[in-house]
Amino acid sequence: MKTQYGHFDDSNREYVITNPKTPFPWINYLGNEDFFGLISNTAGGYNFYKDAKFRRITRYRYNSVPMDNGGRYFYIKDEETIWNPGWKPCKTPLDSYECRHGLNYTRITGVKNNVRASVLHFVPLGVKAELQRLTLTNLSQEAKRLKVFSYTEWCLWNGATDGENFQRNLSTGEVEIEQTDRFTAIYHKTEYKERRNHYAYYTVNAPVQGYDTDREAFVGLYNELSEPQAVLEGRATDSLAHGWSPIASHYLEIELAAGETRDLIFILGYEENPNEEKFAAKAGEITSLGEKDHHIINKVRAHEVINRFATVEAVDAAFAELTALWDELLSKYRVESSDERLNRMVNIWNQYQCMITFCMSRSASFFESGIGRGMGFRDSNQDLVGFVHQIPSRARQRILDIAATQFPDGGCYHQYQPLTKRGNNDIGGGFNDDPLWLIFGTTAYIRETCDFSILDELVPWDNQPGSEVSLMEHLRISFDHVVNNLGPHGLPLIGRADWNDCLNLNCFSMDPNESFQTTGNQTEGSKAESLMIAGLFVYCGRQYVDLCNACNMSAEAARAEQHIQNMNQAVEKYGWDGEWYLRAFDFYGHKIGSKENEEGKIFIESQGWCAMARIGAEQGLPEKALDSAAKWLDSPHGMVLNYPAYTTYHIELGEQSTYPAGYKENGGIFCHNNPWVIIAQTEAGRGNDAWDLYRKIAPAWIEDQDLHKVEPYVYCQMVAGKEAAKPGEGKNSWLTGTAAWNWLTVSQHILGIRPTYEGLLVDPCIPADLKEFKVTRKWRDAEYVITVKNPNGKQHADTPTCLPYAPGKHNSVIIL
Ligand code: BGC
Ligand code: NOJ
Repeated sequence: MKTQYGHFDDSNREYVITNPKTPFPWINYLGNEDFFGLISNTAGGYNFYKDAKFRRITRYRYNSVPMDNGGRYFYIKDEETIWNPGWKPCKTPLDSYECRHGLNYTRITGVKNNVRASVLHFVPLGVKAELQRLTLTNLSQEAKRLKVFSYTEWCLWNGATDGENFQRNLSTGEVEIEQTDRFTAIYHKTEYKERRNHYAYYTVNAPVQGYDTDREAFVGLYNELSEPQAVLEGRATDSLAHGWSPIASHYLEIELAAGETRDLIFILGYEENPNEEKFAAKAGEITSLGEKDHHIINKVRAHEVINRFATVEAVDAAFAELTALWDELLSKYRVESSDERLNRMVNIWNQYQCMITFCMSRSASFFESGIGRGMGFRDSNQDLVGFVHQIPSRARQRILDIAATQFPDGGCYHQYQPLTKRGNNDIGGGFNDDPLWLIFGTTAYIRETCDFSILDELVPWDNQPGSEVSLMEHLRISFDHVVNNLGPHGLPLIGRADWNDCLNLNCFSMDPNESFQTTGNQTEGSKAESLMIAGLFVYCGRQYVDLCNACNMSAEAARAEQHIQNMNQAVEKYGWDGEWYLRAFDFYGHKIGSKENEEGKIFIESQGWCAMARIGAEQGLPEKALDSAAKWLDSPHGMVLNYPAYTTYHIELGEQSTYPAGYKENGGIFCHNNPWVIIAQTEAGRGNDAWDLYRKIAPAWIEDQDLHKVEPYVYCQMVAGKEAAKPGEGKNSWLTGTAAWNWLTVSQHILGIRPTYEGLLVDPCIPADLKEFKVTRKWRDAEYVITVKNPNGKQHADTPTCLPYAPGKHNSVIIL
């Protein structure tokens, strides 16, 4: 489907944007290891190394007007016309524009007055740098003399203080320039002479006619990025930043004969030096401090990268490696069906988003500033379930990192910083669902890999050396954290909140200066219990029991089983409201999510989790709950989180009731929890219903891009619900558990190819009119090609098939 903004190009695994004026910046991610870049369709965004807060390399302005300001820009001055290949910031109308967002790369191409400028941005594997290959082509019959300026603005490393501590920052900036006959490098070295052992650089593989490193000198005191003084005047000022705002801009004069093409390679990189190797003997570079500078950077490491990528062939080779990596990653699970959009989600975009959420957790997007949240305990455990089949070894390390932030009683920091891997108290704690997600993540890893040895790894509590116990012990304590924190009905106490961070039943906040996520939590005497955690406990508890059985720990399995039975009974006895599962009990023990309530009568989380856990299955409770969810929560864009939404602030409910009706956790369509309902539908054998809801949420089926607003190729966290002003409007794209959950849903529950300890289970639950599909699944060191045929229009098989694990290649045909 071509729209006024663009279209999918599945053969190249790209989304092609053909109009720069998208309803919101449509972004992509560069890098999938340690060096990252966010890049919008107009080349806006920024770079960082590992941690968007502590190692921010380039500056970005949030809340800007217009919204996406700052990035890596190229200005082309062709006679009196100044333009950018990505349209912004000059916004000179282009003769043609195209942005191709692919898997960890973006290629932006603009044509103006018979000059084509195409920029390929990507981060080579194993390299701490973004490469920018600028290809200029003279499409005319005459020679062209172009003036080309690069531009990027340095961030003073700490993304948080960079935006607030101006009294210091405006005096600290320092740079160096290095000019050789092969390249021109601008180095950013603020604070390098003291405690930092890292620097950044921006180079071009050519001598230049000038450069700028001071923002005011380049942009001009009263100008904007759309009209930089230096570009208007057609020359660089060779400015040296002394404090204020250091930037990096190269100025090149380029002559192109008719039809000629020229490539320039720019490298925006980051390096660290060991403390004893920080400084070079003086080498005549130009520095901010001039002759007085005793602190010339030892540039050996940057030079290695600069030398390596001096030629187009080297850049092409690195790009081919990246493409090969994605070929390999995407070959682990591949579907072929008659539905192009299903294939697109499964084979490309959903898996790609899972990689990005694995790398970023909830840290850096155009909705997450990168200075607030880092790696969430629950978030990262969920993310790795969508990623574990791609690179199991990285998932393994992540599990150990997450577990190491746990406390001895099983409780957790809600998040940790990617750079330090230490728990971050500023973001809060005491969410009583958190520990269970460790079971969820770890068991998914072992089912995928059969690597039981991870359970013997010694993992500390709260990163304290000497406190190490086995990962298996962490799992036991995680399970017991719920057992040890039961409320008056025998249901799990909620703590600060459960999966719904905004259901703050113990905060009682009346101070707008407090964050609901960190404010004092009055759990003393609280009766606040969560049915969501109850369902999660039964579901993950069974995973724990299965694991114990697989490890021949039958006594522990039996002990856990007993607690699960107790929880089942507690839910059936106190958690059923007649037609659906209650959501919670508040501090005083009053019902939440009950027909007795005026607003917030029914919630999706407890329907999803208790139905997935099949609580009360003998009495048909899951099916009744699913019917009720369909009746009260469903809408053309998916199921809302709760209905009716709250219209007033409830001090006893917290942040949820702060949101306007229909948004976020108050009646928004939280794409993250729709898959819980879909999975529960598949468990109830309702393939048609599951498919209908899946398609409402999955981006490949979204038709109205103006309404949806955010990227059409990835899931967003929330779509405005039916009580909102603009139902169907999407927000918070990219970093959401929606990616992993929808991956789990479509790959393991709808298409139904599910790894278990015993073998690969084939248990599809599909729409009756899907006649056939084929999945190629590389699992452990085996490859299974599974063809599912559905000649009689069924929704599922009478009994699932288990394909036992055996190395090698296997072909199976399953007839429903
Ligand atoms: C948001 C939640 C989020 C929480 C994290 C809240 O404001 O609504 O979606 O999980 O902040 O801190
Ligand atoms: C987003 C958070 O990242 C996640 O942890 C939470 O579960 C949901 N919002 C719901 O509040």
